Amino acid sequence: STAMKNEKLFMILAYPIIILVALVAVAFLASPIVLYTFPQMHKFFIAHSLMITPPIEDIADLHSGSFFISVGSSTLAVWHIAPKIALEAGQHKAPFWKVLGKKDYRIVMYFHSRERDPPMFSSFCRMLLNDKRVEDRIQIISFDYKGFGNSSGETTQSGAIEDTLSVYYWLRRNAHPETEIHFWSHGLGAGIASATAQRLITDGEEVKSLVLEAPFYDTLTMLKSSSWIVRLYDKILYKSFFPESLKIIDLNFNTTMSISKIDVPTLVLSGEHDDKFKTEINARELVRVARRHRDFLFHIEWRCPKITHWPGQQASNDEMKQILNGFRSATAIFWNP
Ligand SMILES: *[C@@H]1O[C@H](CO)[C@@H](O)[C@H](O)[C@H]1NC(C)=O
Ligand SMILES: *[C@@H]1O[C@H](CO)[C@@H](O)[C@H](O)[C@H]1NC(C)=O
Repeated sequence: STAMKNEKLFMILAYPIIILVALVAVAFLASPIVLYTFPQMHKFFIAHSLMITPPIEDIADLHSGSFFISVGSSTLAVWHIAPKIALEAGQHKAPFWKVLGKKDYRIVMYFHSRERDPPMFSSFCRMLLNDKRVEDRIQIISFDYKGFGNSSGETTQSGAIEDTLSVYYWLRRNAHPETEIHFWSHGLGAGIASATAQRLITDGEEVKSLVLEAPFYDTLTMLKSSSWIVRLYDKILYKSFFPESLKIIDLNFNTTMSISKIDVPTLVLSGEHDDKFKTEINARELVRVARRHRDFLFHIEWRCPKITHWPGQQASNDEMKQILNGFRSATAIFWNP
């Protein structure tokens, strides 16, 4: 009877475990079917990592002004940052419409990343605006895509493109007609900038140049770099499962695809170790794929062992200074060949 008792005990312990394992297996096998049937469910898992709402940055020491542009039913928060030299003596806040009207201040539209990083944005502005080597003068326009920061609405790929087009055409209406417009993008912003450039060029508009700083590869790569479940499913599911569902929920940002299709002079800036730590930033692969389709593409890779995320939140002050100097020279040469 000891044997019978043991058998009973075994059953009591084993049943719940078997049931649990079976449930996990069913859930594992069923989730792709559920996600495939109801693609909107992806949004729940994906969008939370895209929709980050940082506060308006403190750029009080720069000569900036912010305003709103209406796009359909939503409003976009826009910043305009002007160099000191563009202002009349004694003025502190930039009257953006006055600077916009001057044709020799080229416009740089800045596309921020998923995690808009206020200190990085302000150091970027200072770097460009305080540089005597960038001879032609510069003014910077930045904005929050729908669903980010102070812009209302929900983030989607077509929405972000629509936002950029609105800002672009607003600039074309309000700036001097001969003013050049350049795009500068960081991380996810690269996906938005390149897709919009593709649209604008199709519409006969001109984007003078495109700078991609630590560019985002595509949404799937981003998801794979942050979730092992996605990595696992991506291995076992059929190849187009994620790309198709990302398309359906309108979040398939893809820098590589757009960049291969346009012929705007492009400068890619990345750090040697970017792709090791954040695989969504895979500048080398992006450049490799894009070069198969087009010529005018430069890539500068910074060698700086401590940096994990261009342009180096983890670098020392000295290293940072060196990087920014190199960065400026590259930009100056690129813009004034
Ligand atoms: C932007 O949003 C923040 C908080 O969400 C708010 O405090 C701030 O006033 C807003 N800025 C503008 C210009 O509306
Ligand atoms: C992005 O575009 C590249 C190049 O066209 C393609 O190989 C890749 O599969 C696309 N990624 C997604 C997630 O659609």
